[in-house]
Amino acid sequence: MKKEEKNVKITPYEVEGSLSEKDYNNLIKQFGIQPLNPELLNRIKKHTKDLHFMLTRGIFFAHRDLNWLLDEYEKGNKFFIYTGRGPSGNTHIGHLVPWLFCKWLQDKFGVEFWFQFTDDEKFMFKHDLSLEEVQKYTYENMLDVIALGFDPKKTHFLIDTKHAGIMYPEAIKVAKKITFSTTKAVFGFTNETNIGSIFYTSMQTVPCFLPSVLKKKNIPCLIPLGVDQDPHFRITRDILPKLGYYKPAIIHAKFLSGLKTFGGKMSTSDSDSTIWVTDSPEEVKKKIMKHAFSGGRISIEEHRKLGGNPDVDVSFQWLYYFFEPDDKKIKQIHDDYKSGKMLTGELKQYLIDKINIFLKEHQKKRELAKKQVDKFIFKI
Ligand code: TRP
Repeated sequence: MKKEEKNVKITPYEVEGSLSEKDYNNLIKQFGIQPLNPELLNRIKKHTKDLHFMLTRGIFFAHRDLNWLLDEYEKGNKFFIYTGRGPSGNTHIGHLVPWLFCKWLQDKFGVEFWFQFTDDEKFMFKHDLSLEEVQKYTYENMLDVIALGFDPKKTHFLIDTKHAGIMYPEAIKVAKKITFSTTKAVFGFTNETNIGSIFYTSMQTVPCFLPSVLKKKNIPCLIPLGVDQDPHFRITRDILPKLGYYKPAIIHAKFLSGLKTFGGKMSTSDSDSTIWVTDSPEEVKKKIMKHAFSGGRISIEEHRKLGGNPDVDVSFQWLYYFFEPDDKKIKQIHDDYKSGKMLTGELKQYLIDKINIFLKEHQKKRELAKKQVDKFIFKI
């Protein structure tokens, strides 16, 4: 293996500190996933008319079986989308990246959206969390999903402990086909791992085919996810054909960087590295100004002379991934920062304003969401 082809350590339960572009390329090889190429983007565009910036900017960067999914769609076999959240804490900006993309998919393809809240998973994997705490976070996280504007008629929340009655009979069919040695190899489990954790991946598989069970016909499934979740679905994709269902198609996103180090996954345990969706404008300002890792120079003189480096600048990345969808504006910011015309303080202020405009609206919508929760929870 060449030096630059080092393996990246990444599973749903362990993500390496910092991921560079090279690491994402290595992950493509390591996971055996396909890069999202221009032909495929054009194929999507035929149906959607325009392309979401998360596709054109490579934030969604890889896939499994997307061509097959589009073949089926073109034959009139409409897919549904599925993603989820392990409610181990409040929602931060990083969580919203794949969810916002799901909203775009729902609008463009008019598809059903299934969202799983894995309270069982977080209870079993996080030693310090009680089931009550996890359920409180489930409720808080639901508000954030609803606030993004999904269509309540086409969006269905599954909460593992609440929907156990319909999920468990399907989960055991999956579990019967997974050996302990497979889960050890995929997730790094040991003899000390609690037995609930070992079973869990079968619960995450259920929403891939539950709609097919309910409708009594095979429906293709597309899963937008952060790339760390792919290992679960490698197991799923092995098993579902054996149960008579389609393998789910997948589209993989990169991680929005935490504030303190460029490329690191945003950590929920370090509040200074994260912007929570409930943060006040003052908190946003303080965190970005104080902690957002900068690709700027040490002095204004040097910055003006040599220019900054947007490629390692967390504020720039946050604009690129989420807060500045306008391609012309993002290019201008990139060029001005790189040439030294734009200073770090100005870049940060631009981001702070964008975040605060977004959060003001989001916080209003998540208040209104409190009255809508019941409409989103799946009823048989
Ligand atoms: N395991 C995921 C987490 O820890 C939650 C999840 C469940 C999920 N189903 C999913 C994520 C499907 C992506 C796609 O957050």
